[in-house]
Amino acid sequence: MTLRVDVLSLFPDAVSGYAATSVLGRARERGVWDLVVHDFRDAAQDVHRSVDDTPYGGGAGMVLSPEPIARTIEETSGLCHPVIALTPSGRPFTHETAQRLSELEGFTLLCGRYEGFDQRILETVVDEEISLGDFVLAGGELAALCVIEAVVRLVPGGLGNDASSVEESFGDDLLEYPHYTKPAVWRGREVPDVLRSGNHGAIARWRRAQALALTVQRRPDLIERRGGLSGDEREMLRELGALESPAENG
Ligand SMILES: C[S@@+](CC[C@H](N)C(=O)[O-])C[C@H]1O[C@@H](n2cnc3c(N)ncnc32)[C@H](O)[C@@H]1O
Repeated sequence: MTLRVDVLSLFPDAVSGYAATSVLGRARERGVWDLVVHDFRDAAQDVHRSVDDTPYGGGAGMVLSPEPIARTIEETSGLCHPVIALTPSGRPFTHETAQRLSELEGFTLLCGRYEGFDQRILETVVDEEISLGDFVLAGGELAALCVIEAVVRLVPGGLGNDASSVEESFGDDLLEYPHYTKPAVWRGREVPDVLRSGNHGAIARWRRAQALALTVQRRPDLIERRGGLSGDEREMLRELGALESPAENG
């Protein structure tokens, strides 16, 4: 099955250009996913091809008019739901969101510009809103591409080698362990002995312990979400000296 992604944007070339490169481009050539980009300016109804207007109530900036967006969505055959608007006030985009979207037949992404969308478009044709984070971009195109790339990597065949995405950060609510490549000593810094030992059991345990330690240190919220640490995980962290306070040892 090919995942179908429709994107509505005023800058379609920005979306299709990036989507043709690297992982996304190769996955599309293999038929893992397909992209249909719509310039919703094509659905504007006046001679100036206007897609925005001044805000009711006053204030700076322009607001995207609802009609060109609604018409584009209604008149596109085969367009998939959910229709997702990229907005700073949407639900934060996470690995779980990417996983959920990767299991669908397709979805549609709506890229805003200027001050954003008329509220009525969000209340009618949009099924959900996604935010990339607590910051404001100039438009939804970069956000849409981030969503697409994170999703396509999780679709079977999306990476060519599906094992690549299995052990990555967030896969098990953990950040990923550190990686090393050659040379074994670089500017006086050595690759940990265990990684050169050939002992696969020890390597797996070391990686797991490193992932746990990094997550405890940087993202305790993820540890809490997965229900804390098991006895074996606490033991691994003690071996690393990464669990020192009595509370953490608890
Ligand atoms: C300049 S922003 C509009 C910001 C809006 N006035 C606000 O304060 O929430 C223009 C467009 O960029 C996109 N955008 C900006 N920041 C985003 C974020 N953090 N996540 C997802 N999309 C974002 C949205 O599509 C938005 O409609």
